[in-house]
Amino acid sequence: MDIVYDILVFLHLLGMAVLVGGVIMRLAAPQSPNGLVLLSGAGAQVLTGVAITGIASAGLVDNDVNNTKIAVKLGIAVVVLVLAHILWRKPQAGKGLFYTLAALTLINVGVAVFW
Ligand code: HEM
Repeated sequence: MDIVYDILVFLHLLGMAVLVGGVIMRLAAPQSPNGLVLLSGAGAQVLTGVAITGIASAGLVDNDVNNTKIAVKLGIAVVVLVLAHILWRKPQAGKGLFYTLAALTLINVGVAVFW
């Protein structure tokens, strides 16, 4: 199961790269239709994050799960997913939504690394 876990962590990091890449794309070119990039990255984070946590919680790998940290990450990631969905459907939605998404994404990277 270790290899499955490692592949999911690999995909989790790629999902983060897609999400952060989407944020940078929109900062560099505000009119770029990159909602689908944000939505794909955000969706990948929720799916792979839940899968990683499930495997660890089931005791299939030798990793402890900090449930409080995971609850915070999941809550933030779901908000990011909803914002990405709005920005995908309404590319010209207010800048506030985009900056909130960007800030929450960075906060989740910080929570992952520093908590
Ligand atoms: C915007 C959403 C998210 C971002 C940007 C993000 C980012 C990251 C990053 C950068 C790491 C690597 C940290 C390290 O190895 O030190 C990580 C690991 C992890 N994330 Fe996320 N994450 C997100 C959402 C989630 C969600 C929703 C869950 C669970 C429901 C989750 C669960 C985990 C777990 C369990 C690890 C540890 C993997 C390991 O090293 O064994 N993440 N995340």
